[in-house]
Amino acid sequence: MQANNGNRSSVLRFNGNNTGSVMRITINIFMALTLATSITTVSAATPAEQYEKFCTICHLPGSHGAPKVGDRDAWTQRLRSGLNPVYRNALEGIPNTTMLAKGGQAGIPDGELRAIVDFMIAATALPPSVISDARRYDRLGLTDRDFIRRDVSRDGYLSRQEVSTDPVLLKGFSRFDSNRDGRLSETEYRNAEAALERERIAVNADDAELYVSVGKAITAVNGLKTDEVKVEVTAGALVLSGVVSHPAIAIQVQDAVRRVPGLKSIQNRLVTGDQMGWD
Ligand code: HEC
Repeated sequence: MQANNGNRSSVLRFNGNNTGSVMRITINIFMALTLATSITTVSAATPAEQYEKFCTICHLPGSHGAPKVGDRDAWTQRLRSGLNPVYRNALEGIPNTTMLAKGGQAGIPDGELRAIVDFMIAATALPPSVISDARRYDRLGLTDRDFIRRDVSRDGYLSRQEVSTDPVLLKGFSRFDSNRDGRLSETEYRNAEAALERERIAVNADDAELYVSVGKAITAVNGLKTDEVKVEVTAGALVLSGVVSHPAIAIQVQDAVRRVPGLKSIQNRLVTGDQMGWD
């Protein structure tokens, strides 16, 4: 087994000149992931020691937007959706980012992984109100990632305002608001997404048409350069790949293409690249 310090310094050296080219970024991500997964687990270590050993390679420099221990703004933002989603993201990984399940350490038991997250949060010394707000949101028992992301006001419901960036969902708002209380509960939102997906799949469109529509939907996403995303459509099945500058962009792309009529399935393999915080 190699020492983590050795791994970390080799990554630092590799990124020394930091040219920012897409090729280099792709290699950097590959390196970080390979190194992150290659370190073997050693038990009987404290959460602080495990953090030091397994997580600092990305979280200390804050590479690719990894929240740094001590960065109160970053952690406050992440805890807005409660503590549970943060544990879940640490355990299951965050799609389209270099945060793999358990930070790439499949051998760490769930309980120990949670303890490392607790250590990271405790060491950040957040105001108690941030933690109590997070606990309050957890008590709502919400699980749908998209619903939670869209619930900006953190009241456990989606208003028209909160779905206003999604014209298709907004248009069907009254139809999906089954109990007519002017807002969507998590169940109503889930049903809405399921219905919209069925309706999308039911539309007939050939691959060439779909390719054009997907291209249009993607170009509408703010901050996205079209050459960053590779679009492949085969028999209605869409695969997106490439490197985007921020995870939020991968999510916006997902939101945009998911409303393209005629797509049978969507695979979003975009990864986040140029937040190289190694220096
Ligand atoms: C290969 C790089 C890498 C490694 C190694 C890594 N992380 Fe992360 N981690 C990230 C990135 C990048 C993010 C932010 C992803 C995003 O939301 O854009 C992140 C986010 C997180 C978050 C925030 C989750 C949320 O809901 O916002 C937690 C908690 C976390 N990591 C825990 C860990 C722990 C614990 C370890 C070690 C066992 C670890 N990470 C190792 C890259 C890494």
